Amino acid sequence: MRSCCSNEDGMTAEMIANLPASGAPAGPLDVVVLGGGGHVGLPLSLAFAKAGLRVGIVDIAEATMVQIGRGEMPFLEAGADQLLGELLPTGRIELSTSAEMLRRTRQVVVVVGTPIDEFLNPSMTVFERTVEQIFPHLQPGTLVVLRSTVYPGTSEYMASALEARSCNVDVAFCPERIAEGHALEELSSLPQIVGSDNSAAGDRAEKLFRSLTSDIIRVSTKEAELAKLFTNAWRYIKFAAANQFFAIAHSAGVDYDRVQHAIRTDYPRAKDLPSPGLAAGPCLLKDTMQLAAFTSDHFQLGQSAMQVNEGLPAYMVEAMERRYGSLRGRTIGLLGMAFKAESDDIRSSLSYKLRKLLMWSGARVLCTDPYVADPRLVPLDQAIAEAEILVVGVPHRVYRDAKLGDRELVDIWGALGGIRL
Ligand SMILES: NC(=O)c1ccc[n+]([C@@H]2O[C@H](COP(=O)([O-])OP(=O)(O)OC[C@H]3O[C@@H](n4cnc5c(N)ncnc54)[C@H](O)[C@@H]3O)[C@@H](O)[C@H]2O)c1
Repeated sequence: MRSCCSNEDGMTAEMIANLPASGAPAGPLDVVVLGGGGHVGLPLSLAFAKAGLRVGIVDIAEATMVQIGRGEMPFLEAGADQLLGELLPTGRIELSTSAEMLRRTRQVVVVVGTPIDEFLNPSMTVFERTVEQIFPHLQPGTLVVLRSTVYPGTSEYMASALEARSCNVDVAFCPERIAEGHALEELSSLPQIVGSDNSAAGDRAEKLFRSLTSDIIRVSTKEAELAKLFTNAWRYIKFAAANQFFAIAHSAGVDYDRVQHAIRTDYPRAKDLPSPGLAAGPCLLKDTMQLAAFTSDHFQLGQSAMQVNEGLPAYMVEAMERRYGSLRGRTIGLLGMAFKAESDDIRSSLSYKLRKLLMWSGARVLCTDPYVADPRLVPLDQAIAEAEILVVGVPHRVYRDAKLGDRELVDIWGALGGIRL
């Protein structure tokens, strides 16, 4: 049996030395979270531990695990730094890079990443590998909860693949619906969808998540899988609608701020129209493409949303060239490189696409972000001092109070009071 303090669990001596000596015996764990060092897995693990459960975190990202063991969050998440610091000394959290830790539990939650491949299709290998990784260590009668966002039918696939390897387990699908940065609050305030194809698996998964919320919605696994994908695709399409409305008005020489104000003001049915902006991040595009791969007509509405949202940086550069003339040799400051405000997550951030297109147009681009660690970035002061034109990539709050001087400010979000384009 391996624990966070054992050198049998795949961690190097230096890493083990960095882990906290919780003194916890290698006893049973209430739940083990596979992929527990990630943006979904870690807040979930902390929430379970806060609720009193003994939690094992298994993750193959060794450096991340060492960081967590030192009490440092690997990414921004409101309230998580403090909670991690409070929980580590209790011994209710244990860390391992090896799936052998699964031997110590009857409840496993799988939240590994689910990327799409170069064809914009869901990667099939993730769960094939996961099955091979976990099945030798599963105790008979274990509850396996899938929490990653998955291609419809993945839960059924997992159940039958584990059964074919003589694993007598219950499988449920319980999607994560938090917004990054707000996980700890939303894990208890949002209803939890519990998808299962037999009542035993559903009852057990419901009991596990009742440690976080009393609000449970029971459906089948495929209903839950579609519910999660539809939720993200719906959000992605709403952003695309706003971005397309903006482009229509802008191309016609109409001030979109005034149009948006007219639409939304005291009109409840249009209150949910988002502002235009760089709609990006690790989930919305990926999950819309998972849905496109699932349907026989390839989900044309979702494909169109992708073209609109992913095309916005190019639209912005073209509009800037029309407004300012050639950008060749001009210095442009790009404010905000994360995929959304108040985040340090740059996965699929459209600010990076914008940077690339601006550079292709010949501009010198000075990128800045207070949260993102990237050696190519410069301090905000330098970007403001040297740039002729400032462009808002994402509207972090800090920019609202920054003295941007008399620089031209391009703000597609309409958040900082500059021109949209
Ligand atoms: N990020 C979000 O806001 C969010 C919200 C809802 C759902 N989701 C979904 O949750 C899933 C995870 O997303 P994420 O943002 O947490 O990704 P992430 O990359 O931050 O975390 C995934 C973690 O899994 C680990 N991992 C990968 N393969 C592993 C393996 N075989 N064994 C052990 N650990 C392994 C990685 O090292 C990483 O730490 C995805 O399916 C995503 O679509 C994400």
